[in-house]
This record gives sequence, C-alpha cells and structure tokens, in this order.
Amino acid sequence: MTHIVDQVSLGAIVQVRDRLLAQQAQGRKVLRLESGDPSFDIPVYAREAMEKALRDGLTHYTASTGIPVLRKAIYQKVTAENSLSVPNDDHVVVTNGAMHGLYILFRALLDSGDEVILPDPMWTEIAENIRLGGGRPVPVVLREERGYQYDPVDIEAAITPRTKAIFVNTPQNPIGAVAARETLEAIAQIAERHNLLLISDEAYEHVIYDGVKHLSLGSLPGAQDRTISVYSMSKTYAMSGLRLGYLVINDPALLERIKKLVRCTINGVNSVTQYGAAAALNGPQDATRAMAKEYQKRRDILFSALENAPYVKPFKPGGAFYIWARILPDWPGYDGKVDDWSMTNYLIDAAGIGSSPGSAFGPAGEGCIRFAFSCSTDQVEEAASLLPDVLAGAGK
Ligand SMILES: Cc1ncc(COP(=O)(O)O)c(C=O)c1O
Repeated sequence: MTHIVDQVSLGAIVQVRDRLLAQQAQGRKVLRLESGDPSFDIPVYAREAMEKALRDGLTHYTASTGIPVLRKAIYQKVTAENSLSVPNDDHVVVTNGAMHGLYILFRALLDSGDEVILPDPMWTEIAENIRLGGGRPVPVVLREERGYQYDPVDIEAAITPRTKAIFVNTPQNPIGAVAARETLEAIAQIAERHNLLLISDEAYEHVIYDGVKHLSLGSLPGAQDRTISVYSMSKTYAMSGLRLGYLVINDPALLERIKKLVRCTINGVNSVTQYGAAAALNGPQDATRAMAKEYQKRRDILFSALENAPYVKPFKPGGAFYIWARILPDWPGYDGKVDDWSMTNYLIDAAGIGSSPGSAFGPAGEGCIRFAFSCSTDQVEEAASLLPDVLAGAGK
C-alpha cells in the first residue's frame, strides 16, 4: 500500500516554472503567466506595522489562534462586509495562509472515506488536502455552456451516504467564474435538504470585476450555521509570502478540533505578519480597490489578445486573475503531441511565455489552458502583444 502522502503530486505549475527559470538562466526574457502571485507591494501601513512590531520586540509566541487585535479586526470585517453571523471573535482562527486553513479543516472534518464534492476543474491543492484528511474528493464538472457555474442538479446527483460537505470557491481558480446568487442559494438549499456542511473558499473575494459585489455563501439563509468560510490575505493585500489566512467556524465541536490542530501544526502564525495583517484590515482599503482595478485592465488586455489568437477560445472571467481558454480542435500541436501540455510547452519554447496546462486542475481541465495575469502589467501587455502571432506560428 502506498503512503497517503505519496498520492500527492509536487505540482504541474512547478514544472512549468522550472522550465521558464532554466530559460531565464540562459539569458532569455520570460513572461510569468503561469502562477497566481500578486505583482503588487503590500499596503504601506501594513509594512509599517510590521516594522514597528519588529522594533517593539513583538517576536514571541502568540495566542495560537491569533493575536486578539487581529481576530477582532477579522470578526468586524466578516460580520460587516461578508454579512456572516458569528457569535464572537473566538470563532475566528488565524492560519498560515488559506492553504494551511484548508489542510487542518479537512483533517478535522473528515473520517476515512468521507466524501467532499468539489468543482472540476479546481485548484488541485483542494483535492490533495481532502485526500490528506482521509477523504475522497468527488468532482462535479463545470461546463462551459453554463458559464462554468456549478450545476446544482449535478451536485445533488453526486451526493451519497458518505458525503460530508460541498466545497464552493467563488471567484473561482482556475476559471475566474463568479457564482451567481441563484447558484449559491440552490447549493445552500441542497446542503439543508441533505444535512451537509458547506466550505466556502473566498480567497479571491476582492479580486472581482465589472462592479460586481462578492457574495459570501455563509451569509445566505440556511447556510449560516453549516458554512465554514475560508479567507486569505494573499490576494486582497498582496501578502502572499507573509502567509496569513483565516477560518470562520460556527460549529463549536469543529472549532475545538481546529484549535487543537492549529496548536499541533503551527502554534500561531508569525507574530510580525499578524500585526501587519491587523493593520491591513483596520486601515483604508483603497490599495485593494486599486489592485482590482489594475487586474481588470490586465484582464481586458489579455482577453482581447486571446480572442484574436488562433486555436483558443477564452472565457472572460468575472473575478480572480486567470484567463481560462479551451484549446480548439485545429491546434496543430507541438513536439509530436496535441494535448494541453503541448501548448504550454510550445509557448515556453517559442516565446518564453508561461501558462498552466488545464489538466493540472483536474480531468475536466484537459484540453484547456490557464493564463495568470497577476504578474506585472508590463509582462501582461507584452504577452498579449505576442500571443496571437506566436500561436499563429505553431506547426509551421
Ligand atoms: C482557491 C484558492 N484558495 C486558497 C488559496 C491559498 O491562498 P494562501 O496563499 O492564503 O494559502 C489559493 C491560492 O492560490 C487559491 O487559489
């Protein structure tokens, strides 16, 4: 029998990154559209709060679920902005990024063989963390003809006696679809009917376009007590390397388990990061709005370039910083192959442009490709100016 961790991959995007970095080492210019890491600096007042925390010697162990000033700021934010009903800030748990929050959540929630319904394509780490928690990921395919919205009929059909939870992510990685209110309401009703938990990953809540306001699943009637909400500071404040996320959990028994896992895994996030996060949440939010505006500009530039390029049909995302495109049947392929990896490899070799093959995000992603526009606007503009011609040159 293989060890549970042996079932986890090292990640396809890492392979692309290594290939791009190898090219860069040979003096070639590369455009980093393969992964989602914000190009921006963190807000100034967050940086200053971190500098002050260091100067003041605030470098000791903290309360393991987060310093009180941060948990209070999060509590205020999730009640006022996300409209969650949470009894008090004891129900907020600060984690080492949303990634760690998801890991301990699935570990705390699942018994061996429990099932979690999740979208396919999906950010792969979700399925990996479900497996690491002893559970079984049950994919529900997001279909292009439905605008990549989760289909409540498909979700209900996937429910078995072992189903424990439905995982929802809006705005979604890798597609950028924003769940419609009707979709979220239908999911909340299904969860009520079948007595399931809901996990709402809102890492991209502030990376949302066209004036649309993010809607939190946990704010809907019927979903309030059964939703565990997952948030991240990585995209909202460009704090990706500082590693801070948080969970909001109403269920007292689950909360107890989560507190134990926080103690045994990290015993508190880096104290300095926590002071920066509190300042980011308590300060003005204009940096976050300015980033979303810039992302929208990049989206429009890249989307129109891909619309004018051969062999791909792009989807215009309503949120997150990715463009998902279907590879068309006339794609001539590269290096003897016609799959999604062949397009990713072609773009690296022909023009130093990074991307992620759709199959890295689950079986339904096969034959698609994802471009991230979280790198600098200059890089996005350059990639956009190259893509139509570079793609047109394939097979020649
Ligand atoms: C859907 C989704 N959830 C969570 C995360 C993790 O964010 P963090 O940096 O807080 O671990 C990501 C990061 O890419 C993501 O795409």
